[in-house]
Amino acid sequence: MRATHFAGLAMAGLAHLAVAEDLLFPYMHGLNNSEIDQAKKLGYSVHVCASEDEWYSMKTADFAKYKGIVIPDPTGNTSMSTIKFLDDTKKVWSPAVTGNMVLIGTDPSFHAKWYNLPGAYAMMSDSIAHIATSKNGTGMYVSLSCYYQSVTSSTIDSLSEIGNFVVRGNISHPCLNDAHLVATSPAITSLNDDIASNWNCSVHEVFAEYPRNSSGGFEALAVALNATGAGQQSFADNTSGIPYIIARGATPLGCGNNKTQPEFGEECDDGPANGTPGSLCSDSCKCLTEMITPGTCRSSTTSSSSSTAMSSTVMANSR
Ligand SMILES: *[C@@H]1O[C@H](CO)[C@@H](O)[C@H](O)[C@H]1NC(C)=O
Ligand SMILES: *[C@@H]1O[C@H](CO)[C@@H](O)[C@H](O)[C@H]1NC(C)=O
Ligand SMILES: *[C@@H]1O[C@H](CO)[C@@H](O)[C@H](O)[C@H]1NC(C)=O
Ligand SMILES: *[C@@H]1O[C@H](CO)[C@@H](O)[C@H](O)[C@H]1NC(C)=O
Ligand SMILES: *[C@@H]1O[C@H](CO)[C@@H](O)[C@H](O)[C@H]1NC(C)=O
Ligand SMILES: *[C@@H]1O[C@H](CO)[C@@H](O)[C@H](O)[C@H]1NC(C)=O
Ligand SMILES: *[C@@H]1O[C@H](CO)[C@@H](O)[C@H](O)[C@H]1NC(C)=O
Ligand SMILES: *[C@@H]1O[C@H](CO)[C@@H](O)[C@H](O)[C@H]1NC(C)=O
Ligand SMILES: *[C@@H]1O[C@H](CO)[C@@H](O)[C@H](O)[C@H]1NC(C)=O
Repeated sequence: MRATHFAGLAMAGLAHLAVAEDLLFPYMHGLNNSEIDQAKKLGYSVHVCASEDEWYSMKTADFAKYKGIVIPDPTGNTSMSTIKFLDDTKKVWSPAVTGNMVLIGTDPSFHAKWYNLPGAYAMMSDSIAHIATSKNGTGMYVSLSCYYQSVTSSTIDSLSEIGNFVVRGNISHPCLNDAHLVATSPAITSLNDDIASNWNCSVHEVFAEYPRNSSGGFEALAVALNATGAGQQSFADNTSGIPYIIARGATPLGCGNNKTQPEFGEECDDGPANGTPGSLCSDSCKCLTEMITPGTCRSSTTSSSSSTAMSSTVMANSR
């Protein structure tokens, strides 16, 4: 038995060298976050960095081996130094993150740990599934926890290589509690408005600005309903609010109806063809390359065409 056990360990060691686990977690002060449990429940293997040094030693190619990178909520920490490692290494990990992303302006691990809220588990689980099922490379999950909750407005420095993200905290007293989902993805199967709302602060920071155009563009996934001011948007179901969860690779409401609606951030809409090899339009109703006019995307050969590609060389991706 002992020999068998030893052989098993040796095999596991070799497997570790040959292929990365599915999901990478940073060290984060050695805390064990609920995100890790949710990832395991979904059936993903996880690698948690043994130290901060391990994360700092990684190269772009090391990050790119994973299906996704999860920057968990350290159970409601407000100290920006918690994610200093992310900022320090952004030039290394950012180029690896070409897949689906989810950025969360709240602290699901805290609300799971202390209040056992079903919505907190669902938010972690669905978001991790979304980033791990990218069709285009390594995905990433980032909980902004409570880092920006008392800041009027701030750029997210650690994500500056991905794009310009501006968040607002301190937007309501005592807190914003009405959450509403405005996008879908095949991976978002359990989160809904009811369980995302009424957390005794469902929302800690909202996104006033984020990249929205072309294939790297983000969508609002969930909004602080009826919140007003910088970042306020209208959605295809006639609701309005400010996004507090944004995603790359999700499908906004109204996308897929074969009608380009620029007022809801769409650049194109080929209906059911979105995201298929025959279309220049992504699942997110963004042009894979660049928009010429609403409904018309530039093809990869740089000539203009309608958003339905005539060329089979145009590859679909997940965004
Ligand atoms: C986290 O989990 C690992 C392995 O399961 C364990 O060794 C470690 O002590 C845990 N850390 C904390 C802070 O609970
Ligand atoms: C919050 O983050 C700070 C700085 O990174 C760390 O020292 C502290 O232990 C963290 N607190 C908790 C409760 O995790
Ligand atoms: C992902 O898509 C971008 C364009 O959006 C492309 O430049 C990149 O090569 C793709 N990466 C992978 C791994 O397919
Ligand atoms: C939050 O906003 C209120 C006014 O709405 C203000 O009194 C308070 O000082 C602000 N807190 C922080 C930490 O900025
Ligand atoms: C909200 O806070 C109250 C008072 O602290 C507590 O009793 C209740 O369980 C909390 N509810 C949630 C959903 O966190
Ligand atoms: C995105 O597209 C809109 C409208 O097409 C344009 O007004 C805006 O400047 C673009 N933003 C960026 C960052 O390119
Ligand atoms: C949001 O605003 C709409 C329209 O004014 C209103 O019907 C709805 O009750 C509001 N919902 C919440 C939760 O404030
Ligand atoms: C939104 O409002 C418009 C104009 O009032 C209406 O035509 C449309 O049916 C509404 N859409 C939904 C999804 O309720
Ligand atoms: C989408 O709309 C175009 C015209 O705008 C039409 O030719 C085409 O048949 C429609 N496709 C679907 C799947 O409805």
